[in-house]
Amino acid sequence: MPLKKILVTGGCGFIGTNFIRHTLEKKPYWSILNLDALTYAGNPANLESMPEDMAARYMFVHGDIRDNELLKRLFIKHNFDAVIHFAAESHVDRSILGPEAFVETNVIGTFRLLDASLKHWKAHGRHPEFRFLNVSTDEVYGSLGKTGYFTEKTPYDPSSPYSASKAAADHFVRAYFRTYGLPVLVTNSSNNYGPYQFPEKLIPLMILNIVESRPVPVYGDGKNVRDWLYVIDHCDALIKVLEEGKPGETYNIGGGEERQNIEVIHNLCDILDERLGRAGKNSSRRFIQFVTDRPGHDRRYAIDSSKLNGELGWKPEHSFEDALEATVDWYLRHNEWIKSVKTGEYRKWIEKNYHTR
Ligand code: NAD
Ligand code: DAU
Repeated sequence: MPLKKILVTGGCGFIGTNFIRHTLEKKPYWSILNLDALTYAGNPANLESMPEDMAARYMFVHGDIRDNELLKRLFIKHNFDAVIHFAAESHVDRSILGPEAFVETNVIGTFRLLDASLKHWKAHGRHPEFRFLNVSTDEVYGSLGKTGYFTEKTPYDPSSPYSASKAAADHFVRAYFRTYGLPVLVTNSSNNYGPYQFPEKLIPLMILNIVESRPVPVYGDGKNVRDWLYVIDHCDALIKVLEEGKPGETYNIGGGEERQNIEVIHNLCDILDERLGRAGKNSSRRFIQFVTDRPGHDRRYAIDSSKLNGELGWKPEHSFEDALEATVDWYLRHNEWIKSVKTGEYRKWIEKNYHTR
């Protein structure tokens, strides 16, 4: 079978890293070029130690998705069969304190990548097999009340600069299908967790703080609900959508594991108490501190994945309990990785976001 050449953007981040490692192993006839600007969230070391046959099908280019000339050169040189677009500014709290970078990368970057893809697709006779998969988020739908689920038909209603920028990008992607016929796919997924997640997001931040006996900051009353999806289940869904999804369509991807934040934090305290031999008045729960809420904090996310399940046969394979334990154990085993991402920039962020809460 001829090699399928995939351009992955943002592959040095959390989901991109897991996607590249998982896909190179699962799909021996895929080769991947990873284009990543290496922001604070990108770590090329994530992809350094791979078995030889996987490494032989992997290439890294340090560059920005906003760079038109670079995109043009890469498309001409590598003649990609598909683009999977992960690159983004991805953290809601950072978007509240500094929204412009989100417009730059998530909106303008996505637009430039779409435009380069369109030129390439046209230059190759509008190849019917070409795909542009835009990896998006359930946050574009806004917030749910106590009941109901986001479906692919839920109107967009973003609350944060992050989700507004992702919504804008999704609109551009769909416009390129309707206007020019570019074969695009959009996925909107719920909260991911697993190895290699930067410790600014809830689960890895809490793991590190608990291990280091530092305060565990819970926003608001801790009763906001997220629908947790193990990152490998997300990667399998993306492969399915890329291979079998219908151009122009959107697919929601959810873990079906709704939890209040405080429940997740209690789970993490319990797992780590067991691992660290803490109990009674020494329990990790003593580090929990309720702090000032996130402005515009969405109350509840929950995804209806029945379209993806019914049409493409995908469902998550990992339970929240098992995969959360596996995630905690990954962080406990990867001290060097943690040290490498906790740079001066990381400490500055923690100071900036949590000092005044
Ligand atoms: P991440 O922040 O861990 O990684 C983002 C990556 O993009 C980094 O490697 C960074 O260096 C790179 N990047 C940023 N700006 C760039 C630019 N201008 N050019 C090239 N590369 C650039 O993000 P993640 O959590 O892995 O999320 C990946 C994608 O999935 C994002 O589009 C995000 O919106 C979406 N998503 C994430 C989740 C989640 O729970 N993490 C859920 C749904 C959707
Ligand atoms: O739903 C998908 C989205 O999930 C992705 O699009 C985003 O890229 C990803 O960052 C994530 O967004 P959230 O805002 O839901 O994730 P975060 O880990 O920042 O927060 C999860 C919940 O935990 C949220 O209700 C806020 C709360 N929280 C978060 C942090 C960092 C706290 O209570 N304390 C904290 O210190």
